[in-house]
Amino acid sequence: MPGLENEIKRLTALGLHRRCVEGDIPRVAALTLEINRRKKERGAVICAHVYQTPDIILGIGDLVGDSYKLADDCRKSPAKTIIFCGVHFMAETAKILNPEKKVYVPSANAGCSLSEAITADDVKKLKAEHPGPPVITYINTSAEVKAESDCIVTSANAEKILRRMYEKHEKVIFLPDRFMGANLAKALGKTPGKDIILWNGSCVVHEKFDPGLIKVYRQRYPGLAVLAHAECPTELIREVDFMGGTGDMMRYVESTNAAAYLLVTECGFGELARLKFPAKNFIAMCRLCPYMKSITLDSVLALLQDPAAQEVTVPPAVAARAKKAIEKMFELAA
Ligand code: 13P
Ligand code: SF4
Repeated sequence: MPGLENEIKRLTALGLHRRCVEGDIPRVAALTLEINRRKKERGAVICAHVYQTPDIILGIGDLVGDSYKLADDCRKSPAKTIIFCGVHFMAETAKILNPEKKVYVPSANAGCSLSEAITADDVKKLKAEHPGPPVITYINTSAEVKAESDCIVTSANAEKILRRMYEKHEKVIFLPDRFMGANLAKALGKTPGKDIILWNGSCVVHEKFDPGLIKVYRQRYPGLAVLAHAECPTELIREVDFMGGTGDMMRYVESTNAAAYLLVTECGFGELARLKFPAKNFIAMCRLCPYMKSITLDSVLALLQDPAAQEVTVPPAVAARAKKAIEKMFELAA
């Protein structure tokens, strides 16, 4: 089968044989070959967040990146069908921005603890308790919560957008990640409870990293650069060289020459970094996101065989209000 042999060669050249993938390369190649064939037949585009496994990102991903880049790429893609290998709120964002397109997620379990931490009613109550300040909402939320918000942010632009908001407002409401909110408040010299009202949400992956380990690793690996996602607790962020979103973390790795890198985030990110920069040294300090990891090559193939069950829909009235808040993000992040 020359098709399969060529696919094995392609995946091997990408280095996939050296990393954790689902099964051995011939099995992965058979799946990626079939998925890519069906995807073309349907005129679909596959989005892959950097927390997906490398066989998904490099084997079948067309649009790859952080949540901001993927939202932006989906707006610009001419494809009429989007298969989102990421979590549900990301696919919902793609649907809100592209109501005319069909959007699918290849897993019913691709939720997010942050998205589940707050409802639209919670936001309404909070606005009633704190009338006036704009509601700045992290993209890791449901469409209904976005619809109650003034502006959406991702970890790639939250600091920039908050700075711009503070030019006009003394106080903002930031939802729902209490750690990211506290980290941003610290970076901007603002006081939680006074200048920034926070919610009690957190990411089940990032909240559990142990800040004490960073000192241990620094002693063990001189010249270590420590990068952490902005969803990590503030005691940990105090110890790192760089805090940001996954896109900025990858650019930091690319543009620096540290003796080694400690990437404090979801494991898929480190897997991808190792493949992209084989000459650099990476120290493992990662946790798996069970929601992101509910998507596999098998589930993508199953979706392409029977997509109806996993179509993402958003009620048009909710989508219209949520879209305004997302568009505000694109305007202020530009
Ligand atoms: P990024 O936007 O940095 O990719 O983050 C998304 C996310 O879910 C982090 O846990
Ligand atoms: Fe949500 Fe955390 Fe998973 Fe990101 S890593 S999708 S914030 S649960």
